[in-house]
Amino acid sequence: MLICVPSVLRKDEVADFRRLMDASVWEDGRSTAGAQSAMVKSNEQLPPDSEIARRLGNRIVSALTSNPRFISAAIPRQIFPPLFNRYRAAGAHHFGIHVDNAVRGDRLTGARIRTDLSVTLFLSEPGEYDGGELVVEDLYGSHEIKLPAGDLVLYPASSLHMVTPVTRGARVASFFWLQSMIRDTHARTLVFDLDNTIQALVERLGRDDPETVRLTGLYHNLIRLWADV
Ligand code: NI
Repeated sequence: MLICVPSVLRKDEVADFRRLMDASVWEDGRSTAGAQSAMVKSNEQLPPDSEIARRLGNRIVSALTSNPRFISAAIPRQIFPPLFNRYRAAGAHHFGIHVDNAVRGDRLTGARIRTDLSVTLFLSEPGEYDGGELVVEDLYGSHEIKLPAGDLVLYPASSLHMVTPVTRGARVASFFWLQSMIRDTHARTLVFDLDNTIQALVERLGRDDPETVRLTGLYHNLIRLWADV
């Protein structure tokens, strides 16, 4: 399931990110690609170990940890340090169809995660560029995603996906992976759906309604059943 999370970064934060990124040196995006994806990847990245990538990445992670919708959807166990990419029309940049590597190691810390979810956080407004849609395939077909700057999309890292060629302007984004406490996509989706339902009931009936309290217990007990912590 694809889940969009709006306003992870405010517009002024996005502007600050873009100012710092525009002043940075970019490298060929194939430095972080696996063997198959390197053959279909054409873009630029901030060097993953650079101070600027780490600093901006930390700001994203701290914004995520205080975002209830993101936490509810991802139930993150470990978030890989965010990376940053740029697709420019001048470079005819694109990223052909591929699946992300199953395991990612952080070169600085040596920490490894299983990639359960892939994340794209858009840092360009849709009007700044043409093309550059993120296309994710699942059992229901192909989905094209292009979100306002500051919004992100979560999708199963097991999905085939691509970025269509950018034909005008530049598409700037952060992308990263996370390991969830709940490995199974369907189980995670059920828990997210249940949480949203409980929040809607709390709005209508209040937090102390007996059935809402029981459903909240059920939510925690499902997490207790399924979570690896
Ligand atoms: Ni990918």
